[in-house]
Amino acid sequence: MICWLKPRDENMKKLIVGNWKMNGSAALLHDMIMGLVDFNVKNVDVVICPPYPYITMAAAMMCADKISVGAQDCSIHESGAYTGEVSVEMLRDCGAKYVIVGHSERRQYHNETNEMVKQKAMLVFASGMTPIICVGETQSEKESGQTLSVIEKQVRESVFVAPGVVVAYEPIWAIGTGLVATVDDVKTVHAHIATVLGSMGLSDTKILYGGSVKGSNASEILETENVQGVLVGGASLRIDDFVPIIDAVK
Ligand code: PGA
Repeated sequence: MICWLKPRDENMKKLIVGNWKMNGSAALLHDMIMGLVDFNVKNVDVVICPPYPYITMAAAMMCADKISVGAQDCSIHESGAYTGEVSVEMLRDCGAKYVIVGHSERRQYHNETNEMVKQKAMLVFASGMTPIICVGETQSEKESGQTLSVIEKQVRESVFVAPGVVVAYEPIWAIGTGLVATVDDVKTVHAHIATVLGSMGLSDTKILYGGSVKGSNASEILETENVQGVLVGGASLRIDDFVPIIDAVK
């Protein structure tokens, strides 16, 4: 049987997402807004994901048409007796437009499974926000040649099939380590993710790369086939580091 897969549109608008993790302050938010206010972001979507307490402030201060605000996680529950958790409805009320789900730090420190990630992505989507669904292999999985099979399983099991969802490939060994996947690695893994997503009917899904992205490597990564943006951790914490990454979008 011949299976026809819709080709991907390589001209999708790029997406740059800053994940502050448990860093930042009201002062950093102020600096970011000052730094981005006059910035020309017409050919790129920029999202800042600060910790929960700053989301409302960030959404009120960011020019909504230029910079969006996202959350780094959400509860798997819609509401109820879940002390300390934050629901998707609350995030939407606070002005979040995107929610990162399944970041490797959530998978590692909070034992989040693919099924849980998919459930969260579904709730995010159902509340009218965009889930950014993270996948990535460990160092040992990479060394034992399992990268593509691990990633494929994560994509098939974690991605909620719906228009507009975003997938982020973040090799765990490259997060916060200064190690960056080679362009060939990024190309191979992203091509595989694109094929898997295509077979799930998600040919228009943006695929971001994340892991030690900085101004000096951003353009090479952003120009790689099947890369529609980047998810940035450390380098999103200083305006002087973040702006060159946005600038790298051609
Ligand atoms: P990093 O983090 O850019 O500091 O490596 C990326 C991420 O964890 O999203």
